[in-house]
Amino acid sequence: MIRFEQVGKRYANGHVGLHELSFRVRRGEFLFVTGHSGAGKSTLLRLLLAMERPTTGKLLLAGQDLATISNAQIPFLRRQIGVVFQNHQLLFDRTVFNNIALPLQILGLSKAEIVKRVDSALERVALSDKTDLYPGDLSTGQQQRVGIARAIVHRPALLLADEPTKEKKNPKEIGGSGELAESGKKKTA
Ligand SMILES: Nc1ncnc2c1ncn2[C@@H]1O[C@H](COP(=O)(O)OP(=O)(O)OP(=O)(O)O)[C@@H](O)[C@H]1O
Ligand SMILES: [Mg+2]
Repeated sequence: MIRFEQVGKRYANGHVGLHELSFRVRRGEFLFVTGHSGAGKSTLLRLLLAMERPTTGKLLLAGQDLATISNAQIPFLRRQIGVVFQNHQLLFDRTVFNNIALPLQILGLSKAEIVKRVDSALERVALSDKTDLYPGDLSTGQQQRVGIARAIVHRPALLLADEPTKEKKNPKEIGGSGELAESGKKKTA
């Protein structure tokens, strides 16, 4: 599903984000990337989202070459991806339900289908009772779980998460990586 071959990323100001990175991830696999601050973890995710292009090497996602992908193809690529950002980027003037519904509204799904999928995503992150609250009324961990629900609600083939468990002392807590692994298993089953 993902193939990095000697991928390098040098930013316009000369900073090196990644240096000759090679690895593969197959469908259904769950990969943890760890590294010190500035090691290039977020750069890796931005490359996969085609927010940045690699400067050297070859980067394939679902058979598509991300060095040469056209701008017109990028929205189609992103529909196959769910992302939990480092700062979860929720909209604080919308309810939990509407935050999670957003990707589905963009896809133009029917109202009934949206309600069904949002309810199921909320169930997966154990927040069914918070659907009508605003993100500001939730704890930090609960806000992160809303971010996870929003990332999985359109059933993407690939789920990317930039340090979703940073705030947690124990990353196995609900909303942490255990749950991400679980949703990955369900998707590929
Ligand atoms: N937009 C940018 N322009 C120039 N240099 C950048 C840019 N984004 C990242 N870098 C540089 O690339 C390197 C990798 O940054 P990146 O954000 O990928 O690190 P990270 O591993 O995600 O760190 P953290 O754990 O702090 O989030 C750093 O040296 C950083 O300064
Ligand atoms: Mg980062």
